[in-house]
Amino acid sequence: MIKKTVEKALNDQIAKEAAASFLYLALASWCDTKGFEGSAAFLYQQSDEERMHMLKLFHFINNSGGNAIAPEVKKVNVKVSNLAEAFRLVYKSETEVTQSVNELVFLCTQEKDYTTLNFIQWYVSEQYEEEVMMKSILDKIDLVGDDGKGLFMIDQYLKTVRKEAADAEAGGEQA
Ligand code: FEO
Repeated sequence: MIKKTVEKALNDQIAKEAAASFLYLALASWCDTKGFEGSAAFLYQQSDEERMHMLKLFHFINNSGGNAIAPEVKKVNVKVSNLAEAFRLVYKSETEVTQSVNELVFLCTQEKDYTTLNFIQWYVSEQYEEEVMMKSILDKIDLVGDDGKGLFMIDQYLKTVRKEAADAEAGGEQA
């Protein structure tokens, strides 16, 4: 049976994964309307991925004798004027989620909840991969600056990057 302190922290994490999912959805929509098709496709997929992270927590809490709570949906105000600003928000969001996951790890060790600690390790690895990926994309965008051709190339690249990550994950699971 999961402790109330851990259950609450996991429910808070659900809200953060949901917020990340909606932030990416809002940014995908912004990209969609600005002609950044590849970036939009990437962010729509990323939004789905964050929802999957949220659902994983739902099942874990309920299977552990707790009660997973659907979080409040807050309006996302996306005020960005270029692709760099959009991906700076993405990267910032990922670093905040990582911080939150790290605090969960700390809580699990404090509470001696090694089952949840084991479960949460997946998020530790996932956050590392996501931070690396978002930083790499942001670096590329910063590199080209306002150059239209460069931004177009990056947008094309983003059409493929999630597929590569999914293939790598599938390959890792088979190994
Ligand atoms: Fe599930 Fe990248 O936060």
